[in-house]
Amino acid sequence: MTAPRENPRLGIFPLCQYNRFMAIYDHYAQVYDDSGQIAFSIKMIPYLSDLLERHPAPGHSMLDLACGTGTVALSFAHQGWEVYGVDGSCGMLEQTRQKAKQAGQTLALSQQDMRHFVLPHPVALVTCLYDSLNYILTLADLKQVFRRVAAALMPAGVFMGDMNTRITLEQVWGNNTFFVENQEMAVIMRSSYEPRTRFSTVDIIGFVRQEDELYTRFDEHHAEIAYEDREVHGALAEAGLHVEAAYKCFHLDPVDAETRRIMWVARKPEG
Ligand SMILES: C[S@@+](CC[C@H](N)C(=O)[O-])C[C@H]1O[C@@H](n2cnc3c(N)ncnc32)[C@H](O)[C@@H]1O
Repeated sequence: MTAPRENPRLGIFPLCQYNRFMAIYDHYAQVYDDSGQIAFSIKMIPYLSDLLERHPAPGHSMLDLACGTGTVALSFAHQGWEVYGVDGSCGMLEQTRQKAKQAGQTLALSQQDMRHFVLPHPVALVTCLYDSLNYILTLADLKQVFRRVAAALMPAGVFMGDMNTRITLEQVWGNNTFFVENQEMAVIMRSSYEPRTRFSTVDIIGFVRQEDELYTRFDEHHAEIAYEDREVHGALAEAGLHVEAAYKCFHLDPVDAETRRIMWVARKPEG
């Protein structure tokens, strides 16, 4: 694990301020992009441009909340935006930092819990992508996240965040085993859905090839929850964010009973 690092832009935050605690994604981070997860961000980047045409942001500063390995954050930086990235996992942030260094881009990164994060300046856009919000396991905590998002936005600022619906956690993930393998790694995921709590738990076992050709094993336990649309709508409204749209993710159509992933777009009022 990397040593704490001062970030010149955020100043007060070391990059990994509580890295003595192992967070989910700390191990998975090293194979996250290579295991195919990066494809989601690559698909998301043009979709966010389409959304921003319909729902303009009042400036070119943004926070990617739960930024993961930073693919979306870096694309905004590349387009000239001032970009903050917040994530709970030191491992994911380290991947982002390395990618930013390689790309010669500056991102203001900090390790923070999205329920309590702060930024030094309000931003015009907050994104929270790839079901990161489903990792917030109680409605009270989801409301807390949205309150922090509202506080981080400038007046008329926009929030865009996608969430898995119950259909995905119950029927697509369900009780299944998934396997991904390439020359560098093998990852096995076992998912299990509990209808009463709407929790999907995923046990991840990964094997990562090392320089000596041997493999190291890691184990992680992930949990996501499915929220009802009215719960998310209500939580955004309670935080003072006006819902402008709920789209079938990657489309500009309204959601229906079959929708697997919803992109929520909400705005902080001007006044
Ligand atoms: C599925 S990944 C998505 C990462 C990235 N947004 C993307 O599109 O690839 C979920 C991310 O949420 C982060 N995360 C989960 N719970 C968090 C929390 N309470 N606070 C901050 N980050 C959290 C994880 O560390 C992980 O990077």
